[in-house]
Amino acid sequence: MNEITLIKPDDWHLHFRDGDMLRETVPATARCFGRAIVMPNLVPPVTTAQMAVEYRERIEAAVPNNTQFTPLMTIYLTDKTTREEIKAAKAAGVVAAKMYPAGATTNSDAGVSGLDSLFPVFEALAEEGMLLLIHGEVTEKHVDIFDREKEFIDRHLVRIVEKVPSLKVVFEHITTKEAAQFVMEAREGVAATITPQHLLLNRNDLLVGGIRPHNYCLPVLKRNIHQEVLRAVVASGSERFFLGTDSAPHPKHKKEHCCGCAGCYSAWSAIELYAQVFEELNALDKLEGFASLHGPKFYGLPVNTETITLEKSPWTVPDEIALPAGDSIVPFFAGQTVNWKLKG
Ligand code: DOR
Ligand code: ZN
Repeated sequence: MNEITLIKPDDWHLHFRDGDMLRETVPATARCFGRAIVMPNLVPPVTTAQMAVEYRERIEAAVPNNTQFTPLMTIYLTDKTTREEIKAAKAAGVVAAKMYPAGATTNSDAGVSGLDSLFPVFEALAEEGMLLLIHGEVTEKHVDIFDREKEFIDRHLVRIVEKVPSLKVVFEHITTKEAAQFVMEAREGVAATITPQHLLLNRNDLLVGGIRPHNYCLPVLKRNIHQEVLRAVVASGSERFFLGTDSAPHPKHKKEHCCGCAGCYSAWSAIELYAQVFEELNALDKLEGFASLHGPKFYGLPVNTETITLEKSPWTVPDEIALPAGDSIVPFFAGQTVNWKLKG
C-alpha cells in the first residue's frame, strides 16, 4: 500500500506550552490533527475555568489562517480544587480535568498529594459529564521508577474507577503490560492513550550505547516486553486505546543537561510514526480507529468530517527546529527516516 486516507485524526494528549512557543507547537499539530486535548501543566498551572478560557484564546490566536483546529481544554487538579470550579469549567467548555500526582513529572509540584479529599471533585466531574485524565505514577522516593505505573494501578486507580462508577477515566500515556491489561479488563468508561515513543522504543533506546536525552519522557520507557504488549493492543483494534502523542517540547539546552527535562516533541512526525508502527504490525487497517474514531467516541464528540492522506515517501526528521524566540528544539526521531509523509 502506498497511500492511506484517514478521517482526520485528533491528538488526545499533548503539551502546547505558552507564549512564543505556541507559534511553533500549534501549527505543527494543526497540520494534521483536527483537535487536541491540551494539557494544563503551565507555570503556573491552569487551575481555573478562567485560566483555561484565556489559554484557549492564546492557542486559537496561533492557529494558522485557513486551518481548522479546535483546542480542547483541561484544568489541572490540586488538593484545593472545588466542585464549584468543576461546574465553572464545564460552563466554560472545558472537557476534562487532569490529575498529576504531586512531583510525578514536569510542572507537577502543585499536583495532588492526597486522593481521599478529591473524591467530591471526581463525583462533580462525573455529574458534569467531564472526564478525568490521569498521569498514573506513584511518586514515593523508595518506589523504583520502572514500577511506578504498576504501583499506581494497584494503590489508586482501582479505587478511583470503582468508587465513582459513572466517571470516564483516561489512563494517559500507558507504558506497561499491567496498564494495558487493567484497561482491557476495566469497567466501561475506562480507556488509555498511547504515545508513538512507547510503541516505537523501549528502555534500551534510552540507555544502550550512551544516554539519549531526547528519548527521555515520563512515564519512562520500559522493557521490550511492555512495548510488545502495547503494540499488540493497538494492533487488536480495541476501542479502549487511542492516539495521544504526549508531544512535549523542551528547549535543546534543557534536554541536553545534567538534569534533563522529560518529554519528546513528536508533533512534526506523530501521525506518520503511528502509521509506521501500524504498518510494521500489519495492522494499517486499524490505524483509523486508533487515530480518528475511538477517541471521539469515548469523549462523546463527533468524528471529524475532513480527511488526511499519507503517502509512502521516506523523509528525514530535521535535526533541530529553530524557535520563534531564538532557542531550538530537537524533535523526536531527529535525523531518522520516517516512511510515511502527510500529503498536501
Ligand atoms: O515526558 C513528559 N513530559 N511526561 C509528562 O508527563 C509531562 C511532559 C511535559 O510536560 O514535559
Ligand atoms: Zn503529557
